[in-house]
Amino acid sequence: MRRKLAAGNWKMNGTGASLAEAEALAKAKPEPGCDLLLCPPATLVHRMAQALDGSAVAVGGQDCHAKASGAHTGDTSAEMLRDAGASHVILGHSERRADHGESDSDVRAKTEAALSEGLIAVVCLGETLDEREAGKTLEVIGTQLEGSVPDGVSGATLVIAYEPVWAIGTGKVPTLEQIGEVHDFIRARLEARFGAETGSAVRILYGGSVKPGNAAEIFGVSNVDGALVGGASLKAGDFIGIIDALEAAA
Ligand code: PGA
Repeated sequence: MRRKLAAGNWKMNGTGASLAEAEALAKAKPEPGCDLLLCPPATLVHRMAQALDGSAVAVGGQDCHAKASGAHTGDTSAEMLRDAGASHVILGHSERRADHGESDSDVRAKTEAALSEGLIAVVCLGETLDEREAGKTLEVIGTQLEGSVPDGVSGATLVIAYEPVWAIGTGKVPTLEQIGEVHDFIRARLEARFGAETGSAVRILYGGSVKPGNAAEIFGVSNVDGALVGGASLKAGDFIGIIDALEAAA
């Protein structure tokens, strides 16, 4: 059985004062029925990891560089994230693919760097609205999955997040059938590439406008093992509502 995962992506939001939300979450969920993860901006990783030490909430980064160190002004290595207290890192988020031109091979190299440091990689895939309307969703997801995920992964080291670009931060959510179609497709591709055991152990999260009010129905879809939540992870109360739904579905 795959343990469900509720992951929060704070994006470029949050200062020291926001740590109170993380602490409220940890206090409300001392023994959650699913895994919990918060990915704050890089400036908060260390402080959040210290604040949540001993709690059930893990801390992750939102990106890492493919190289271990060197002349890369402004970047953060996987080792630095781990040293700061992160156990996970989000890679290939569509905002990084769009804002920083990250290709599948860039994401793959970053994922390799993360895995070599012992971080759990949360690799994001998702089609644009144009691609969906052109009937290319599965083709796009298949290509991203193949290109972004390196060999040698396991259910313990890799999480996939399916995040349709057009559903992120827009309040628009695919139909349950559309979510199920893509999650089933990703599961089949993982099993074909990595074998049934590994392919069935990797968790597949849905992301894109998940809120307390729509979480329960999304978590009822086959092969949805949790959520990657942006806006609704910033406030403990909203995120707890989503986690409640995930625990009920577990
Ligand atoms: P959203 O973002 O929940 O605000 O739509 C999800 C994400 O980008 O991870």
